[in-house]
Amino acid sequence: MNVLLVGSGGREHALAWKLSQSPLVNKIYAAPGNGGTAGLCENVPISDTDVQALMAFARENAVGLIVPGPEAPLVAGLADAAAQANIPCFGPNAFAAQLEGSKAFAKQIMRETGVPTADFAVFDDHQAARAHVESRPLPMVIKADGLAAGKGVVVAQTREQALDALDEMMVRKVFGQAGARVVVEDCLLGEEASFLAFCDGERAAPMPSCQDHKAVFDGDTGPNTGGMGAYSPAPVLPRSRWEEMTALVITPILKTLAAKGHPFKGVLYAGLMMTGNGPLVLEYNVRFGDPECQPLLMRLESDLAETMLACAAGRLDPSALRFTDRTALCVVMAAEGYPGNYPKGMAISGIENAEADANVKVFVAGAKREGDALVTSGGRVLGVTALDSDLAAAQRRAYQAVGKVTFENAFHRSDIGAKGIARSQA
Ligand code: AMP
Ligand code: GLY
Repeated sequence: MNVLLVGSGGREHALAWKLSQSPLVNKIYAAPGNGGTAGLCENVPISDTDVQALMAFARENAVGLIVPGPEAPLVAGLADAAAQANIPCFGPNAFAAQLEGSKAFAKQIMRETGVPTADFAVFDDHQAARAHVESRPLPMVIKADGLAAGKGVVVAQTREQALDALDEMMVRKVFGQAGARVVVEDCLLGEEASFLAFCDGERAAPMPSCQDHKAVFDGDTGPNTGGMGAYSPAPVLPRSRWEEMTALVITPILKTLAAKGHPFKGVLYAGLMMTGNGPLVLEYNVRFGDPECQPLLMRLESDLAETMLACAAGRLDPSALRFTDRTALCVVMAAEGYPGNYPKGMAISGIENAEADANVKVFVAGAKREGDALVTSGGRVLGVTALDSDLAAAQRRAYQAVGKVTFENAFHRSDIGAKGIARSQA
């Protein structure tokens, strides 16, 4: 079978790596791919949101499975187009993808379904939003409704910050149409966890819990990024609670969407806040997390292509999904300046040296091939991922590997996994 993998980040390199291990997979095309997928796939220069071009390519190249990595192609209707062409696609249709594409949609579905989430209100009118913000307790959270590259969420500590956020989103339109509608919600306190499940429209097969590190600097300080590191499993959400969590935040959503005539196929990702009053959903994503995908796929023992085909065909067997009990931890190496402006084009060395350890895999995110060299092309450059018996050992192994990889202006967080280790010791 030929696979068309859509996207160009570390997540997509990890997906390509795992898919390439499947005996079902003959050839993988990555659109547009990166310097990591280039070693495993044929990269094809098609933008990840050009649905028409992606579908034309899939038809011409006998593609038997489409795997969208990021949310944008799903929101743009790639799964709908694939269904029309009778090509299996591992991802939800555009209606169901609104779970991620519209925060107001997600909150309303959660309210309708009875999924625990922060109390909220939705506004299209700036004056009405201002009046609401004046009346609510602090801190509060302001969210642009649409996709804003992970930047559309402001946790406002003061009323002035909240009003400024409304002004930026609704009046100055810094996120374009994505900010024309806003969600204002209560601020939740606690530790975050990511909980992902393979879904076939009806059934869900949960994956082990994981934890992302969104802030750019150690100690969860500095601006939010796409994610600076992740590990799995996360002690904040132990295995004893995965069944309960599936029944609380995954299966009910599948039921609601199926009842609306849009069964959810693909990965449903619940971003959770583990509060003193139990877990609440912060957001849903309709795809693997990046970098959560990297440690999860390091742990996955089942055939990924077979699992994805089963999801697409509505015949997933949750009891068949296997992960190793070992812990995986991924440290993102980024370019100095990220998530703001950063330099590009720095040559990367030492990956082979790091991967001499069979329990280390370096996933390429923002880097491309130039002749024989790999040079940086993005803010998040590499995801150095290690597998070991427990969290502390996986952390040690990952950082040893990070020490072997170099490029100019590289930086990384040095505390990935620290919260989990502290919790395991407590
Ligand atoms: P989201 O894109 O909705 O996940 O928001 C991005 C980040 O903002 C989350 O990972 C949280 O760290 C933070 N956040 C979002 N909503 C809330 C909330 N209601 N209370 C506290 N933090 C939040
Ligand atoms: N790492 C968070 C995300 O992929 O949305």
